[in-house]
Amino acid sequence: MKIKTRILHIDSGNPQEDKLNDAADVIRNGGLVAFPTETVYGLGADGSNIDAVKKIFIAKGRPADNPLIVHVFDISQVKLLVKEISKNAIKLMNRFWPGPLTLIFKKSKIVSDLITCGLDSVAIRMPNNKIALRLIEKSNCFIPAPSANISGKPSPTDAKHVIEDLNGKIDLIIDAGNVDIGIESTVVDLTSKIPVILRHGKITLAQIEEVIGKVNKNKKENVKKPKSPGMKYRHYAPNAKVIIVKDELDFKKLSKKYKGNRIKFLKYSNEVEMAKNLFKDFRDCDNDGFDFIFVVAVKDKGFGKAIMDRLRKASK
Ligand code: TXA
Ligand code: MG
Repeated sequence: MKIKTRILHIDSGNPQEDKLNDAADVIRNGGLVAFPTETVYGLGADGSNIDAVKKIFIAKGRPADNPLIVHVFDISQVKLLVKEISKNAIKLMNRFWPGPLTLIFKKSKIVSDLITCGLDSVAIRMPNNKIALRLIEKSNCFIPAPSANISGKPSPTDAKHVIEDLNGKIDLIIDAGNVDIGIESTVVDLTSKIPVILRHGKITLAQIEEVIGKVNKNKKENVKKPKSPGMKYRHYAPNAKVIIVKDELDFKKLSKKYKGNRIKFLKYSNEVEMAKNLFKDFRDCDNDGFDFIFVVAVKDKGFGKAIMDRLRKASK
């Protein structure tokens, strides 16, 4: 079913009140709104409205066993959504929120099984973006929001990517230009005795350990019952085949084998620039019809680890 998608330009530095009210009305009325965060664009709905949450899965073509991250505008909202807030949680929220860090808690009854896909835990984050925060506040609810792309595609770092994927499928897209970071939040599970990092992001393992001490790395996923169900799916993938290379020389050697194909070479000057542009460049390559994308790797450490995780998944 095709619906009419409205596009609303909002100024990220100084969001217009009337436009925020308009978007919040859509959420309150059970609609779907794509909105910017500092990491990637999210696709949000009223978390207390089951039918609205169902529509998120349908619009994205998202597998029904991949739970959603709940977005809040204030730490005080967390209390309602979880069973217990540990000392570690308080420390991490105080240090990194609003920011690109998602925390996993034991859930309260308020959070529907539809959001958590039957898990007894819930993922929560407070995004560091004025539009997102004001939208959640004005909607007067908590907002589950996955990345606003068709499932399996690279996450959207600009409203135009959301339009490409979801035009005709959702009610409203807030266009606030491109995002800051460009890859999704770090996810830390606080429900086990020793916290576990489930997804790497801008906030690094070292930064988290500085605040709460030892954090475990996610071991090889238990495929039947993965800790972070989303991580088992093919992700971040352009249509073109992605090949990771060490440097330009490596590219020149390897690419000889692929003569006759349309080949793109991507190399970035630093990690921040790479995170910001990688998903956009993947999408551009697809639109331009490239067959192969060669990408120069960065160090598999710190923020680089988050980027390399995405790159490896995209290259599978
Ligand atoms: O930066 C971000 O986190 C963006 C923006 C929009 O906030 N959101 C995002 O959502 O990346 P999504 O749905 O694309 O990824 C959510 C990830 C998935 O890997 C999912 O499996 C995991 O979080 N997740 C959600 N709830 C979980 C839970 N209760 N336990 C373990 N993993 C969970
Ligand atoms: Mg996603």
